[in-house]
Amino acid sequence: MDWEDFLYKNLGRLNPRMVAWIEKRLKNFSSFNERIEGEYDQIMTDLESSVKPYSGKFASFTQLPEAGRGHEEILREMQALHAHEKEQWEDGFVSGAVYHGDQEHIDFLNEVYAINSQSNPLHADVWPSATKFEAEIVAMAGDMLGGAGQDVCGTVSSGGTESIMLAMKAYRDRARQERGITRPEMIAPVTAHAAFDKASQYFNIKMVHIPVDETYRADVDAARKVVTRNTIVMVGSAPSFPHGTIDPIQELSELARKRGIGFHTDACLGGFVLPWAEKLGYPVPPFDFRLPGVTSMSADTHKFGYAAKGTSVVLYRGQALRHYQYYTATDWPGGLYFSPTFAGSRPGALSAACWAAMVSTGVEGYTSATKRILETADVIKTAIREIPELHILGDSLFVIAFDSDALDIYKVLDAMSRKGWSLNGLHKPTCVHLCVTLRHTQPGVAKRFIRDLKAAVAHVKANPEEKGSMAPVYGMASTIPLRGVVSDLLKKYLDLMFKV
Ligand SMILES: Cc1ncc(COP(=O)(O)O)c(C=O)c1O
Repeated sequence: MDWEDFLYKNLGRLNPRMVAWIEKRLKNFSSFNERIEGEYDQIMTDLESSVKPYSGKFASFTQLPEAGRGHEEILREMQALHAHEKEQWEDGFVSGAVYHGDQEHIDFLNEVYAINSQSNPLHADVWPSATKFEAEIVAMAGDMLGGAGQDVCGTVSSGGTESIMLAMKAYRDRARQERGITRPEMIAPVTAHAAFDKASQYFNIKMVHIPVDETYRADVDAARKVVTRNTIVMVGSAPSFPHGTIDPIQELSELARKRGIGFHTDACLGGFVLPWAEKLGYPVPPFDFRLPGVTSMSADTHKFGYAAKGTSVVLYRGQALRHYQYYTATDWPGGLYFSPTFAGSRPGALSAACWAAMVSTGVEGYTSATKRILETADVIKTAIREIPELHILGDSLFVIAFDSDALDIYKVLDAMSRKGWSLNGLHKPTCVHLCVTLRHTQPGVAKRFIRDLKAAVAHVKANPEEKGSMAPVYGMASTIPLRGVVSDLLKKYLDLMFKV
């Protein structure tokens, strides 16, 4: 074993800061870089066919065609691509991703989009309908999330990540303006969505991660210990993306309130499920604006709100906090300019479709959809508990994360992929999850999932030597101590997506 091999295999024993330091130094050695590049290239070559399945099968362009193509031809090609992709999500083989997906609902939203396709809320004078829709979306979401009778306001954004980033920016700017904080910190459980880390990077807010306990809920004592004079916001998920568990929002938000810190409940995933689950009698701990310490929330209309992709809601307790989200330019030669979110021009049609999804579904529609989803999740959870090789992580309502002590769970994930399933592979700890949506409530889907999962487990058990296709990549990515290497690998993956 050479020295690089030795380091590569033993770095995991060192603390992460030391590893990062060593990694930076190692990058000065060309032999090390060559070796890593070689591994990247191999992985990327293996991945290319799955990332670019249409290469050579459809017309592709690296330059504008001289003469425009006919509409018929373009539509025909798109129909072919659509038909190829739709089966998997339509038939309920995919975790999360498509939350409603009934053809009638899609057709209705498409019709709404078509009517409003030119609308842009940036030009509120031309499309006051867009501001009507957005104001009402915010009001309805606020009311649904415990804001009735309170001063709860917000804006519509493009998705969960933007909602979260907007809220973090608002806290940063408020802390700088009102408390003179120039080195802001946020406290978030390790399970909080990556969007919080993204906000930390983009807005220069130090991320202070706290661990989760054995039930995968944020450790309140740990949060208490890391509050400093620079802490501007604390975060909890309702529920978290990885394991679907709801953090102890009551305790965390109370801690934040007592220390004069903001508290953000990330209900991107659960905002349009938990209110109805609570109504149906499921055990839902308090998580919304009924808690006095909760000062902001995110809830995704494009997930269980059943809107088309591209909308979410960010909510604030009080207009003063919302003002820190806004952007205004008073001296630009282009005129007085102001926008509520990161984008300038925005698709008013998506807000119209979001509004239409909300008012056409209504309380009854959301409640019955939630009932079907939670009942289906219960059936699946019960069945997984009966598979001796598997165990479920945490206690969740509709995101079912499972692992195995006996088998490589990534090989089970691979075996499920071969049967057509697209589940999520997670790490730290290794597990796989299924986020149950309305697609899975269709007759026979839960049964098929259980049958396939049992077969996948049996297959991996009977073929322990089989390597699998993605299992080694997942395994390597979760265990390799050089996180910079993993990060570079992900950037190469993104490059691959933009390869024609
Ligand atoms: C809990 C949670 N927060 C935030 C997000 C980010 O949402 P988006 O992908 O819409 O940006 C997700 C996405 O799954 C999520 O589950």
